[in-house]
Amino acid sequence: MRDLAIVPDGALLIRGDRIEQAGPRAEVESLAGPVERVIDAGGRIVLPGFVDAHAHPVFAATRVEEYELRSGGATYEEIAASGGGIRSSVRKLRAASEDELYAAALRRTQWFLRTGTTTMEAKSGYGLSLDAELKMLRVIRRLNGRNWVRFVPTFLGAHEVPDEYRGNPGAYLELLVHEMLPAVAQEKLAEYCDIFCEPKVFQVPAARRYLETARSLGFGLRVHADQLERCGASELAGELRAVTADHLEQIDDCGIAALAAGGVQPVLLPASVYNLGLKRYAPARAMIDAGLAVVLATDFNPGSSPTPSIPFVLSLACTQTRMTPAEAVTAATINAAYSLGRGASIGSLEPGKRADFVIHDCADYREIPYFSGLEPASETWSGGRLVYSRNSPQMVVS
Ligand code: NIG
Ligand code: FE
Repeated sequence: MRDLAIVPDGALLIRGDRIEQAGPRAEVESLAGPVERVIDAGGRIVLPGFVDAHAHPVFAATRVEEYELRSGGATYEEIAASGGGIRSSVRKLRAASEDELYAAALRRTQWFLRTGTTTMEAKSGYGLSLDAELKMLRVIRRLNGRNWVRFVPTFLGAHEVPDEYRGNPGAYLELLVHEMLPAVAQEKLAEYCDIFCEPKVFQVPAARRYLETARSLGFGLRVHADQLERCGASELAGELRAVTADHLEQIDDCGIAALAAGGVQPVLLPASVYNLGLKRYAPARAMIDAGLAVVLATDFNPGSSPTPSIPFVLSLACTQTRMTPAEAVTAATINAAYSLGRGASIGSLEPGKRADFVIHDCADYREIPYFSGLEPASETWSGGRLVYSRNSPQMVVS
């Protein structure tokens, strides 16, 4: 993870939406022959577009009122127990039309481009009924119809127990297993399934049933695990050979060993720790030392992590979890790409891969986490097309 294979005075030869050659400029130029267009990065840093492998970008409204309550000392769990939190986002999302959700998500997508993200995961999970979950997933599919940020859809019907099933969470699990998962599979609206496995939300036996059903329907598995309280979720992820286990602030050595044994990639979300005003970050060093292909992501959502910025996440990873800048960049590019099943096509600048790259306005990649709070992306290119330029007054989007 510490070897970024940096090419000083490098160049890319791009044809259509692909990288054809990558390497030292003299070599690439000699292979290229006459080219249609030269993009001069002016000696600045060019990195692969960031891949944000854990995000909840479709929601109807902010939860700024909860942010203010937390600033006064209320905890995330207290707010959730009193009917706020995820359930408040569910009520708002159910009342919103598909067009309204699409317009809101489209606006937020521009923030991601501006910070250098070209591929992101998008979870459902604020609908929690068949209709509302399908509505969210259709919004994600529609967002994908535009050729800029690419979205990888994940079904998170098990994000919370909705209001109408509070007295009977078992019945909601039955609905998920017998109706919602099969419907999402049938319509091919998601590649992955995820669950919030937490003592006060879905416990391990329920999570096992949901995830086993999801797996039998062909979904890849992701798990919100060991975020607030430890309950064996990491061990479950290992046992089921989930693709990722995410959050992991409370994981212990047994949990880390289970992830290693199951080939599970940890997805660390330091911005949610930061935004909740908590102090305990996931033990990134122990995971890297155990040989795990750690991923960093924003967890962008209206509650625990309203940040779309991977550069900010890299800063947190370096200062709060002792990842090196190189490890952090690896975690948010190639490792993240593999965790979304796209390691062969994105996440690095190599021949044959998609031409998703970002020109960062700095002379050394370590400045990206170092100048924390400064967004260094100057141009974002997706599939060989300019989709964001800091110098043009309008975003280039179509
Ligand atoms: O990843 N932990 C559960 N889900 C989200 C929070 C979603 C919300 O608060 O709306 C998370 O932190
Ligand atoms: Fe999340």
